Amino acid sequence: MPFAYIKEGNNYKYLVDGKWVFSSSEKTIGINSPVDNSLLGKIQAVNQKEVDNVLSTAKKAQKKWAELPVSARAEILNKASELLSKNKEVIANQLIKEIAKARSLSITEVERTADLIRSTAEEGLRMNGELLEGECFYKCERKKRALVGRVPIGVVLAISPFNYPVNLSCSKIAPALIAGNSVVLKPSTQGAISVLHIAELFLEAGVPPGVLNVVTGNSSEIGDYLVKHKDVDMIAFTGSTKVGKRIANLAGMKHLLLELGGKDAVIVLEDADLDLAVRECVSGCFSYSGQRCTAVKRIILINSIADKFIDKFVKEADKLKHGKPEEDAYITPLINNEAADNIQELIDDANNNGAKKLMCKFRERNFWGATIFDNVTSKCRLYHEEQFGPVAVIIRIKDEKEAIKVANDSEYGLQTGIFTNNINKAFDIASKLEVGTVQINGRSDRGPDNFPFSCIKSSGIGTQGIKYSIEAMTRIKSTVLNLPS
Ligand code: NAP
Ligand code: G3H
Repeated sequence: MPFAYIKEGNNYKYLVDGKWVFSSSEKTIGINSPVDNSLLGKIQAVNQKEVDNVLSTAKKAQKKWAELPVSARAEILNKASELLSKNKEVIANQLIKEIAKARSLSITEVERTADLIRSTAEEGLRMNGELLEGECFYKCERKKRALVGRVPIGVVLAISPFNYPVNLSCSKIAPALIAGNSVVLKPSTQGAISVLHIAELFLEAGVPPGVLNVVTGNSSEIGDYLVKHKDVDMIAFTGSTKVGKRIANLAGMKHLLLELGGKDAVIVLEDADLDLAVRECVSGCFSYSGQRCTAVKRIILINSIADKFIDKFVKEADKLKHGKPEEDAYITPLINNEAADNIQELIDDANNNGAKKLMCKFRERNFWGATIFDNVTSKCRLYHEEQFGPVAVIIRIKDEKEAIKVANDSEYGLQTGIFTNNINKAFDIASKLEVGTVQINGRSDRGPDNFPFSCIKSSGIGTQGIKYSIEAMTRIKSTVLNLPS
């Protein structure tokens, strides 16, 4: 009976050494739904002493796990992928309630994650080394051969955000495990219940005790403590730039993979297919109410086509269904009131700094309706800051040169999209954009999950994506053979 062990009554447990347990702190954190504020359950507020125990367990378990053949580890991941597919309705229903994600997007998050785990298992089987010959190098007088392979890093501390609890937890767990690491996962507090369900499926699939552990609790008590802990060898974090920078400052010499905030732009040129650009910008700005790192957070329009684009864009945005995630509304409540308050501040500031409000449907507590601002300039906070809500920001410019300048005028560097029918121009502009990925004729998008997802500037450090994550979660080790000359 899946999920029988993760809770008693309404109290969820945490996972250590293959066992679901209550915290000795006897403290819990209530998780309420952003949809109707109903109590979904209580999670454990794990304390620092328990963190010590979890990490020493993970450290011990990692050694044996790394000795298993990669094919055995892959078999367990494949089983976890199957179990996730089998339980997709249960997990998706949890996402709907816990993070107010629309039904179809919740199902997609689970399905895409099952694919990610299976593909990671498959990619792990191709984790081959190489043989280097020394003689080809200048002045290498003896015959030398280097056997170069990849070995696990050790204990990976995985920290995931609220907006993709399933996908962005598993995109760390799966590559870490296939590479022979053990994992201590600290999910975001809102989203933690969904993640506990996932962890149970990995156990059921055969992950041995201690290889995957999940701690829940207050970041103010255990966040910094986990990050600085001597038994953590690597931190894979996805979340805000503010917390990411704090982690980078505290981590010392630990390996780091950081996926942080974004302010992705799309540039729409004069020769673009405007209907396509409008469609992609509507879903880019408003899907999951704009709570995606890769949401389109700036639309940069060449003046000559701006009015035509805006006319179509406003009409399409106006049709979006607002409502409950279980009814598959397009725009659903935001994660909490603070997120909605932050948007209020950005909107007030835009109103005070010359931007033109084209749409602002409503605000009811944590629920914002679709909002569109035109004529946003660098005087406005909306030009610079991540809105993380259903707010479209339109910036008008005179030509392509200015478009590139404005797109690059950001502390962030995830993705930029270019809409044009001139492929040569698209490539030329792409080469000048300061981001990890350029999308031609498409909205910014992390997936498919096997693509590299590179973060630059304040958007992070390193590259994720199935093969790239496995590389990041291993280190190179060489054994050199000195042959008789
Ligand atoms: P967040 O507030 O930074 O939280 C992310 C995670 O960090 C949560 O698990 C949080 O736990 C934990 N945390 C907070 N303080 C910590 C500390 N001192 N030490 C260790 N962990 C700590 O981000 P969020 O609100 O969940 O997610 C939204 C942000 O994530 C946006 O900025 C978005 O752009 C970014 N994001 C980026 C990507 C990407 O791939 N680049 C993907 C998704 C999201 P608690 O919940 O318990 O505080
Ligand atoms: O929030 C950040 C996610 O990594 C975005 O993923 O582009 O597939 O929605 P997505």
